[in-house]
Amino acid sequence: MTEEVSKNTSSQTKSKLWVDILIFIAFLVTMDPRSSGLAIHEWLSLSMLAAMTVHLLLNWDWIIQITSRFFGKLGGLNRVNYILNWLLFVDGTLIMISGIMISESALPLLGIHLPQGFGWRRLHDMSANLFLLMLGIHTALHWNWIVNTINRYVVQPVVRLFAAGAKKDASA
Ligand code: HEM
Ligand code: HEM
Repeated sequence: MTEEVSKNTSSQTKSKLWVDILIFIAFLVTMDPRSSGLAIHEWLSLSMLAAMTVHLLLNWDWIIQITSRFFGKLGGLNRVNYILNWLLFVDGTLIMISGIMISESALPLLGIHLPQGFGWRRLHDMSANLFLLMLGIHTALHWNWIVNTINRYVVQPVVRLFAAGAKKDASA
């Protein structure tokens, strides 16, 4: 999250970290349907909709603030982040719609059969590849946050745990 609106509590930041790790791993699995199998691909990506909603809700303050100030004075990389986030949203919607249109597992199981054609497969493939590219930029733009948060909430607690264990051994 960019500095201007970063008045998060530590529990909010921890929630963000775990949700981000979850969607990142889920995304990597969905990008390789041949390894996971099509059923896992479809159900996992459909359930990512819920996780993505949480991702957006955890950043809701930022979205509201930047939306209201977009055409005014806006510092740092907020404007770039904002535009990229919208592109991710539109592209993510295209992936989901095209995926649902070519579904071979989830929708038929629910008794839904959609008309084929229109190049949905091509659109699905193209929008997924574009998403991968934009996610690389999204990650790069939040790199400092990722490194600092992992350091504070994962690395440091583990180091403290080992240090406490070593102290106990030494005093025994
Ligand atoms: C696999 C997918 C994604 C991953 C791993 C990811 C990761 C991240 C990370 C690490 C942050 C900074 C920490 C935080 O605030 O949570 C962030 C912020 C944010 N992301 Fe994502 N994100 C993903 C997809 C998306 C998508 C599809 C959208 C838009 C629909 C989006 C919108 C945002 C927004 C609005 C913010 C906060 C504002 C900002 O600083 O840009 N993210 N994301
Ligand atoms: C995060 C969301 C998703 C991503 C990143 C994603 C990504 C991909 C990728 C990379 C492929 C391989 C394309 C190829 O090699 O030609 C694929 C294939 C496929 N996806 Fe998705 N997908 C997502 C969501 C969905 C959803 C929601 C469904 C359906 C409910 C779906 C159904 C399919 C099907 C049926 C194929 C096989 C197409 C074929 O064999 O030509 N996908 N997806």
